[in-house]
Amino acid sequence: MDEEIPNLSRLLVGLPNWSRGTIRFEALQGGLLNRVYRIRCGSQRAILKYSPPHVASQPAIALSPGRNAQEARLLRALAPGGELNPLRRDEIFTPRILAHRPEHSLLLIEDLGDRLNAAQALASGQDIGPAMRALGSFLARLHERRLDPFSKRLRYPEMSAARRNLGYGRVARLLLELEPKLCRVLEQWGQRATETQLCLTMGDLWPPSVRPVATGVELLDWELANLAHPALDLGHWLAHLWMLNQRFHADLVASAAAAFLHGYGPIREDISSEISMQAGYEILMRNLGPFAQQPCQRPMIEMGMALLAGKACILDEFRDRSLIDAG
Ligand SMILES: Nc1ncnc2c1ncn2[C@@H]1O[C@H](COP(=O)(O)OP(=O)(O)OP(=O)(O)O)[C@@H](O)[C@H]1O
Ligand SMILES: [Mg+2]
Repeated sequence: MDEEIPNLSRLLVGLPNWSRGTIRFEALQGGLLNRVYRIRCGSQRAILKYSPPHVASQPAIALSPGRNAQEARLLRALAPGGELNPLRRDEIFTPRILAHRPEHSLLLIEDLGDRLNAAQALASGQDIGPAMRALGSFLARLHERRLDPFSKRLRYPEMSAARRNLGYGRVARLLLELEPKLCRVLEQWGQRATETQLCLTMGDLWPPSVRPVATGVELLDWELANLAHPALDLGHWLAHLWMLNQRFHADLVASAAAAFLHGYGPIREDISSEISMQAGYEILMRNLGPFAQQPCQRPMIEMGMALLAGKACILDEFRDRSLIDAG
């Protein structure tokens, strides 16, 4: 077991059958920010998230461990009886909290089992349209939560600053060598994106967080939820669909995007450039930045820069199809 995880035994106290047996750990892949384990004790299973005070995959990058408490706040609010529960409408599934020790940055949650995430489902040829429609309409309901007293309590300024410096700032510095004019554009968008507090956002809509199920979608990983600009979620998710579209099953991805946009409903024309800038940033981040996951891909970088420069619109990449499907 990871010697970094402190006080695990205290986390398990009070959970029936957990404190007595031998606990087995399996490190799960897929996340970058935290250490995530499936833990087993007899027939019991759970997911343990430990949030060190840095990015788990890059210990040199400091990061607020309060993200662990933010995730717990959101999961509690989405659980039955919670403030945000009515938004789920039996289509969105989130894990229950089993135990939480914020002082040790430990969160123990229900194990929803192994399931293909949105990218894996598309790669295997699945039609994820119904799940995407459910995701779109849920997101619209979440974005309707504006500055009501409950949503205001979910404000997370430390994470906004971290995103500005570690995300937008780093990618902007990399752009300095490629296209200096866009460096400034991205810095300005990063500033606005992290300071604007229009509504509740999920904050981490990328394929590992989104797992389609027959009647909707499981949404994992709520630690980056924050009051922000709705373009953050929309640009983020559409950027990932666009990148998936370059890789496989273009028709399936296009219809997934159409279903998502249809579920979300009308998007105000005046935020479409923000959505594109956010999508451009996300594409660059995944191909250039500290979280680049694949060897630098020239066509992706070009699209990222075109979106930032206002020479391409991410909604137009999918819009025609969505109008036909919404028909
Ligand atoms: N409740 C759960 N049930 C089953 N599997 C889970 C659960 N929570 C997380 N996982 C698995 O563990 C992986 C990593 O979890 P998660 O995305 O929460 O980690 P993270 O470190 O916060 O990721 P990121 O770097 O994107 O912030 C997920 O992609 C999923 O495969
Ligand atoms: Mg996370």
